[in-house]
Amino acid sequence: VDEGYQKTYQKFDEIYPTLPKGDGWWGDGFGVGQFLQYQGFWIPSIPLRGMMLIHDHFKPRPTDIILSTSPKCGTTWLRALIFAIINRNSYHFDNHPLLSSNPQDLVPFFEGYYIQQGGGGSTSFIETLPSTPRFLSSHLPFSFFPNSMVSPSCSACRFVYICRDPKDAFVSMWHFMNKLRARQELPPLPIEHAFGLFRRGVSLYGPFWDHVLGFWKASLESPNKVLFLKYEHVKREPSMHVRKMAEFLELPFSAEEENEGIVEKIVKLCSFENLSNLDVNKNVNDEKHKFIKNPEFFRKGQVGDWINYLTSEMADILNQITKQKFQGTGLSF
Ligand code: A3P
Repeated sequence: VDEGYQKTYQKFDEIYPTLPKGDGWWGDGFGVGQFLQYQGFWIPSIPLRGMMLIHDHFKPRPTDIILSTSPKCGTTWLRALIFAIINRNSYHFDNHPLLSSNPQDLVPFFEGYYIQQGGGGSTSFIETLPSTPRFLSSHLPFSFFPNSMVSPSCSACRFVYICRDPKDAFVSMWHFMNKLRARQELPPLPIEHAFGLFRRGVSLYGPFWDHVLGFWKASLESPNKVLFLKYEHVKREPSMHVRKMAEFLELPFSAEEENEGIVEKIVKLCSFENLSNLDVNKNVNDEKHKFIKNPEFFRKGQVGDWINYLTSEMADILNQITKQKFQGTGLSF
C-alpha cells in the first residue's frame, strides 16, 4: 500500500471492529466482505474502505461524471449509454468498444477500484485517467461523497442517478445474489429470507429507499448537478432520455448528428437485446479475475418481472414501505 494511503487504511482498520455486521446475502462475497453498517447504510468492507480513500485522496475535476446507482437498477445499461454518448466522436458503431467489452471494463467502478495503483504505483489509477471526460460508476449513497464533490456551490462532478421500482430491484438482486452464492458453493437464498432482509433495509448499499431519497433530494436542490432517472422511464422512451443525458452533460446532439440518427444508433447499441447477445457478454471468457462475470449483469431486462416471483402480500409490503418512505417528497413508484 502506498504510504499516502496508509493512514486511511489504519483508520478503516480501527473502525472495522466497531461496525455492525449484516446477515449475509453473499457470505463473504469472494473477499469483498460482509455487509457493514456505516452511517445508516449497509456496504461491504472493500467498497467502504474505497469510500474512505476517496474522502481522503480523491481530487475531483469539473468535468467528472459519476454514474450513481443502487445495485441492479440499470448500472450496466447506463454505463453503456453514457459511455456511448461521451465517446460518440471517437468510435464507429460497427467497431465500437461496447461490442467487444462489457461496460464494467469500460467504466471504472469508483469505490471498488480506487485502490488499484496506476503506472507509477504511487496513486490510484483513477487519478491518472484523462479528463476526456473522466467517467466513473458508483453505488455510494449521496451522503457518502466528500463535500468537494457534492456541495451545490462547487462545480466539480456531475451525477447521473438511476433507480427502479423497488419490487423489480429486489427480484433482480435476489437472482443476482443466488448466482454469486452458487459460485461460492453456498446454498440458494430462499426468497422469503432475502425479502425479510431487503424490507428491513439490509441489502447491498441499502436501505434501498434511503439510497433513492438521497439522490432525489439532491436532484431537487441541484438539478444541474444531479440528474435523476427511473429505469421504467428510460425503458419506455430511450431516445428522449439519451438526449436528456447528453444535454445534462453539456454534450447536446447537433442537428447534423440528429439527421444521421446517432441517438437511435446509441439506443440500439446499448439495448438489452443487443448487449446481452454479444459473445463477450454471453460467455465467461478470460474472467477469472472478475468478481462479477459478464453474463451475470444480464437477466431479463424487463419492467414488472416481480409479478412472477412476489406473492401479493410481499408486493403489498414493499408498496407500503415505498409509500411511507416517499410520502411528501414528490417521488413515487
Ligand atoms: P433484471 O434482473 O430485472 O433482468 P445492474 O446493471 O445495475 O446490475 O442491473 C442489472 C439489471 O439490469 C438486470 O435486471 C439486467 O437484466 C438489466 N439490464 C442489463 N443490461 C441492460 C440493458 N442494456 N437494458 C436494460 N436492462 C438491462
